[in-house]
Parts: sequence; C-alpha cells; structure tokens
Amino acid sequence: MVRAMYVSDLALSDYRNYADQVVRFERGVTMLVGRNGQGKTNLVEAIAYLATFSSHRVSADAALVRSGAPGAVIRAKAVEAGRERVIELEIIAGRANRAKLNRSPVKTREILGIVRTVTFAPEDLALVKGDPAERRRFLDEIAIMRMPRYADLKSRYDKIVRQRAALLKSGRTSGLEVWDLQLASAGAEISQIRAQLVADLAPHVAEAYAALAEGAVAGVQLAPSLETTEERYGLETGAASLEQRMLTAVQKVRQRELDRGLCLVGPHRDELALSIGDLPARGYASHGESWSLALALRLASFTLLADDDPPILILDDVFAELDSRRRSRLAQMVGAAEQVFVTAAVEGDVPEELVGRTLRVDAGTVTEVSDE
Ligand SMILES: Nc1ncnc2c1ncn2[C@@H]1O[C@H](COP(=O)(O)OP(=O)(O)O)[C@@H](O)[C@H]1O
Ligand SMILES: [Mg+2]
Repeated sequence: MVRAMYVSDLALSDYRNYADQVVRFERGVTMLVGRNGQGKTNLVEAIAYLATFSSHRVSADAALVRSGAPGAVIRAKAVEAGRERVIELEIIAGRANRAKLNRSPVKTREILGIVRTVTFAPEDLALVKGDPAERRRFLDEIAIMRMPRYADLKSRYDKIVRQRAALLKSGRTSGLEVWDLQLASAGAEISQIRAQLVADLAPHVAEAYAALAEGAVAGVQLAPSLETTEERYGLETGAASLEQRMLTAVQKVRQRELDRGLCLVGPHRDELALSIGDLPARGYASHGESWSLALALRLASFTLLADDDPPILILDDVFAELDSRRRSRLAQMVGAAEQVFVTAAVEGDVPEELVGRTLRVDAGTVTEVSDE
C-alpha cells in the first residue's frame, strides 16, 4: 500500500540564514525563487536533513546553525495517510542532536524515517567524480530511509572504527581482539545491507541511464573492501560467514594496520564502482556522461524508495544545468511524487510541468507570491 507523505508546515529557528521562519506547504509542486544566496537551498536542505540527519553540502553540523546562535531547530509537520506528526530536531554544534515527536522528547532515531527525501543538486556530480566516501554516503542515506535502524548500526560501526584506529595508532595491541570481533560483527551486517541495496538499485540505474543517454549502458557494483583484501592476500574463505571472513581478513592485515595506525578492512573502505560501457566512470567519463550518471543514480534511488512510499522530491537548482532530454526525465518523475520542491534563481529555467505554487526567498525570509 502506498502511504505517500508530505510536509505541511516547517518552522526554522536559527537555521543557516533563517532567524525565525514559519512556512506552510501544500502537496504538489512548490517553487522557491529568489536571487542567489538568499536561502533557497538552505530551506530545502532543512527538510532533507530530517530524512537522514545529514546535509548534502557539509559534513559538520556547525555550519547549519545560524552564526552567533547556540543551536538551530527544525520543526516540521509530516502528513501521511491522514496522520499528522510533528517532529522537531535541535542541532547544537559539537553535541548530539535532540529530537521531539509530537512535542515529547524522544531518541533521535525515533523520528528517522518519518520524512523521506531525494535531493537532486549540482553537488551530485561528486557522486561520480568525487571520492569513494561520496558514494558510500549515497548508499547509506538510502539505507537509512529504507531502514531507519541502519543509522544506529552505522554510527555504532563508525565508533568501533574510530576507537580501534586510536588503539592501533597508540601501538598497543592489548584489547585489540575485542575490537576485531566488534568490527567484524557490525561490519558484516553493514556489508550485507549494502550488497542488497546495490543489487536492488542496479537495474534502476541501468534503466535511468539508458533513458538519459540514448540507450547507453551504465552499471553499478559494490566493490567491498573485504573482497579487495581477500584477493590481495589470496585468502581461502570457503563457506565461512561474512563475519568470519571479515575477522580473518582483519587478522591478516594486523601488522600493516599497526604500521599505519588505520583500520584497513571493513565497509568504511567499500567502493561503489560505477561504469559506463566497459570503462570505469571515474577518470574516464566525459562531463556530460558524468552528469547523466549522477542523475541516473538519484533517479534510481527515487524509484527504489517510491516502491515503498514516494519520498519528497527536491530539485535544487538543477535545471540551469540540464538539457531538454534530462529536464523531461526529471519532470516525468514528478508525477510519482506527492510533494516536490523546486528551487531556481530564474523562474524561466523551470520546465512548464513543474511550475507550481511560488514562494519568494529573500535574505532568509519566505513570502508567498500572489497570482498576477
Ligand atoms: N550558519 C549560517 N549562518 C548564517 N548565514 C548562513 C549560514 N550558512 C549559510 N548562510 C548564508 O546563507 C546564504 C546561502 O543560502 P543558500 O540557501 O545557499 O542560497 P540560495 O538561495 O542561492 O540557494 C549565504 O548568504 C550564506 O552566507
Ligand atoms: Mg542554492
């Protein structure tokens, strides 16, 4: 059953360049227009932040808090199948976020999964051209929206990697075995989820790319760090479980890890390998091909998530970059979304199908544009 959700109200306090702003939204398309640097991206970023607790523009939350303010608050009313929930997230730089659900304090994970978004933005080019970390983040964000408990698993794993690396750096080996076991256990769980996710995404990526690039073939494949390590050392794994294999590999690289003070095996070193035709995309694809592939990855994530329930679609400043074929592919998708946010500096760049209710953004203030 489809249980499409949308956000009907948003309140921002000390978020980016918003001091105090309340906005009502409707289903369908909302256009945010205004000159550059006024807060269009900031506003859609706040909505997207509720979906994954991460931003497509920064890795540190400090930048999300209005400069000079102690903390930011994002509050949203999410409507789903007639049910309304008010979720609130307080971001305090350098400290854990705090959450409320219907005004009562809850663990942050309890509000994950209520708002789901897929964002297209100029930064998406980094999915193809950037470091493997960009592609891991792409996968992890989808995994969180499909399965909110993945966020807990991932942060537990990241902590294990940090603490184990600190131990390796210190050169002490006592207690390392305990961390090996934990890394193998959480690492195997993450690997399994990522492998399934990539398998589910792959046909959608191929289809979207073919549609954008006149039938050309693109592929995505997970290149797990475990397999890379096994190949390098010719480890015989037989029918061992993923966890056991991870443990064997970790033990195999022990001396190198101590030499370098790094955790060398585990999903924190996975790569999502992208290819176009027979060639790897990274380093080979042209600018246009890279763009198409980045779009195909986002389109695929939207299609996959929409199988369960359509996420909110955010198209941040993308139309100026796109040719008519790509514009119409994106516009097609809009029909499947319950709610769409489109930002543009120039209204004329937005395709006809996407023109909707217009809000003007000016220096951190949002106003309705009345019909002429
Ligand atoms: N933490 C912050 N505190 C105050 N202002 C901020 C903060 N982060 C970003 N800004 C301001 O927000 C503006 C950029 O907003 P943005 O939403 O990216 O613009 P656009 O409308 O072009 O999408 C810039 O002027 C920037 O200085
Ligand atoms: Mg912008």
